[in-house]
Amino acid sequence: MPIKASAPRSVLLVCLGNICRSPTAEEILRQKAAVAGMSLTIDSAGTGDWHLGEHPDVRAQKHAKARGYNISKLVSRQVKADDFYQFDLILAMDKQNLADLQAIKDSLTDASDQDSEHESNKLATLALLSEEDPIYGGANVPDPYQGNADDFEAVIDQIESSVDAWIESWKSV
Ligand code: 4NP
Repeated sequence: MPIKASAPRSVLLVCLGNICRSPTAEEILRQKAAVAGMSLTIDSAGTGDWHLGEHPDVRAQKHAKARGYNISKLVSRQVKADDFYQFDLILAMDKQNLADLQAIKDSLTDASDQDSEHESNKLATLALLSEEDPIYGGANVPDPYQGNADDFEAVIDQIESSVDAWIESWKSV
């Protein structure tokens, strides 16, 4: 992927459960993109299927709300093959999420070699959320599920920083 890519039209945020990190990132990107005047389709999903149909973890909701992000209405879903055709950019919260996404993309690339309807060059670009971040660059957003209040605050700090960095990179192309 070209690191300095032009602004995507659609971004999917992905973590493991889609109840802590990625719904938080979805709302942070939604608000910051709106402030930047960018028109973006934004959604989030999990690589796992344990929490399908659930609203975000109550701790994630509480910490996000205190920072100005209402994620209470979001509903967990799992990543699906169609996401790789529908979204320009898929951002993973950590390296395991990225590896899991890459495995799905690879399987779709192989399948599309035999399927003229789905061209592999139209599949979403994958990256770590922190990829453009001058502070957290290359780092995982640590999974807060077994953590404490400080861990949930740190997730928001890190996601805000990394989302700011992506928006700056899209503006500068
Ligand atoms: P998330 O956090 O990936 O940030 O949504 C987690 C939520 C649930 C689980 C793991 C991580 N879980 O194992 O159920």
